[in-house]
Amino acid sequence: MKFLKFENEIEASKYVSQEIIKEIKENNKAILGLATGSTPIKTYEFLSKDFSLNKTDWSKVSSFNLDEYLGIPEYDEQSYRTFMNKTLFNNINIKLENTHFPNKENNYDDLISKAGGIDFQLLGIGVNGHIGFNEPGSLENSLTRVVDLTEETIEVNAKKFFDGDISLVPHQAISMGLKSIMRAKKIILMALGKSKTETIKKLIKCKNFDINFPASILVSHPNVTIVYDKECLNNEI
Ligand code: PGA
Repeated sequence: MKFLKFENEIEASKYVSQEIIKEIKENNKAILGLATGSTPIKTYEFLSKDFSLNKTDWSKVSSFNLDEYLGIPEYDEQSYRTFMNKTLFNNINIKLENTHFPNKENNYDDLISKAGGIDFQLLGIGVNGHIGFNEPGSLENSLTRVVDLTEETIEVNAKKFFDGDISLVPHQAISMGLKSIMRAKKIILMALGKSKTETIKKLIKCKNFDINFPASILVSHPNVTIVYDKECLNNEI
């Protein structure tokens, strides 16, 4: 695992957006694994800005998002489909039919393999070490499946996206598994801000997979970069 520190969220997000643009320029049919949540929002802003200024061509790019809530309609205001359309897809020339989200019917891991596998996977990390919605207890060989969200994740997401109303947050989601994520050729995990300090300190110390800390799976991946900002951790690693 490589760790890269940036001055702030803006600089970290600029770097990650440039890495994504580089990936697309090297391979115009790049297959991207994308994340939702507060962490990638600025990165998507930079990508949207890049498209309006430089017209980077996304027309042959495909994307596979990590997860989607269950129990709300696909185009609900709070769905991850809506989040992605608003923050990125509507602002670039990606074809919406090339943008994918897991659901109970689409056999997501097969769909990803048939497309050729994920070239570049973007990840956030939950305070409890979850990646995607792989909560503590997720198995090393887990594939895309229905998952129950922990109380902690429901509370965090209620605060960030549902005006604090826990009753509005779905209790289940469908998420790529840890094994699905590990199949990506290259991974960038972003950790921004104070709330992730302890999580990243824990990740630095990981040597092996710890079922209680899902992000620890990444220690055995050959191409992972952890992008963090000073507010998260002021140390070089
Ligand atoms: P966040 O969520 O980006 O909103 O902090 C990250 C995650 O839960 O994976």
